[in-house]
Amino acid sequence: MSVLITNIGELVTNQPGEQVGAAAVTTVAGAALVIDEGLVAWTGPASRAPAADQMVDAGGRAVLPGFVDSHAHLVFAGERGAEFAARMAGQPYQAGGIRSTVAATREATDDQLRANLRKLAAEMLAQGITTFECKSGYGLTVPDEARSVAIAAEVTPEVTYLGAHVVPPEFDTDRSGYVDLVCGAMLEACAPHAKWVDVFCERGAFDRDEAAAVLAAGRAAGLQPRVHANQLTAGPGVQLAVQAGAASADHCTHLDDADVDALASSETVATLLPGVEFSTRQPYPDARRLLDAGATVALATDCNPGSCFSSSLAWCIALAVREMHMTTQEAVWAATAGGARALRRTDVGHLGVGARADLVMLEAPSHSYLAYRPGVPLVAGFWLAGEGVVGGQKVTGGERAAEGIPSGE
Ligand code: NIG
Ligand code: FE
Repeated sequence: MSVLITNIGELVTNQPGEQVGAAAVTTVAGAALVIDEGLVAWTGPASRAPAADQMVDAGGRAVLPGFVDSHAHLVFAGERGAEFAARMAGQPYQAGGIRSTVAATREATDDQLRANLRKLAAEMLAQGITTFECKSGYGLTVPDEARSVAIAAEVTPEVTYLGAHVVPPEFDTDRSGYVDLVCGAMLEACAPHAKWVDVFCERGAFDRDEAAAVLAAGRAAGLQPRVHANQLTAGPGVQLAVQAGAASADHCTHLDDADVDALASSETVATLLPGVEFSTRQPYPDARRLLDAGATVALATDCNPGSCFSSSLAWCIALAVREMHMTTQEAVWAATAGGARALRRTDVGHLGVGARADLVMLEAPSHSYLAYRPGVPLVAGFWLAGEGVVGGQKVTGGERAAEGIPSGE
């Protein structure tokens, strides 16, 4: 069954391949796109669109690749709204707040964790996120981390083992015992459900040697590394990520010249999470410096109950444009193709022929409205592997494509 989406006001495709950032963004006005067997089969001017079994009229609205959120912590219980309010009243953000979510998560049943995760995943999809990564890291015991990754794996293939989030209170006097557990029995229990290993490399969390040990053990167990790096302070996280061949160094808020150079001359994506700086009232990362140096930049939500409880990549795009001086095209690329690179995925984040048909349709004529109309729910619909939902309704048909689709000049 093929579907033609026609009368697209602006189609943003992103070019698959080597080029990154705004240079890889292609926008076509008056466009059409054909989906076949869940994949993108054709894109181009609507006037040249081939026939298909079904047709959807986009009514002049913009269509983009589905958003790819490469950093989220969605397996947890409880909430920390009071901590946020205290921050807005002047308290600093501290990594230790994670422990209160750990306590609530340990208390929760599997079904409670599952229900909260599914609610957040649905919230993301309704806002155009068609691929998301999900970390453990609020269990921090062998059974609690194991159930966290197993529950995450029910809803996404992009599961990250983050046993090295913080040292839990019962190991306060035995840090090395906890690192051994993370690298040993906990990893063994989690690896079958995970693709990635992550570590929070930060003062108050894990130092360079501890973080390196966690990444090496994870790699030996078949997991690929990614790192929470340079979030709260300057430190060794970015260099470690690059040396470890990590897919991504996330946060990158406090970078020196050597960090920027290391990112620019490596395959490691710099994933920026501006919702965190908004929600913790910290300075935003210097996106321009990274982009101008030639680093590959992704944008992600970091949705979690502590440092940023937002599941909106559209809002992150607006922040990146307004606060971090990214162009609208750079920000859209970073939230789609950039996220895909940070997850080492070539099938999503672009709309080249053969890509998975994951699309977002905006209630707007152009991608720039994501920043131009911040805070407005602009996602009119989405397609997930070719299955479309527009205005909350499954798109099951439309007019027969053979009757009325322009098929040639
Ligand atoms: O990415 N930095 C570490 N982890 C999360 C915060 C988690 C929390 O505060 O609960 C982050 O910001
Ligand atoms: Fe995080």
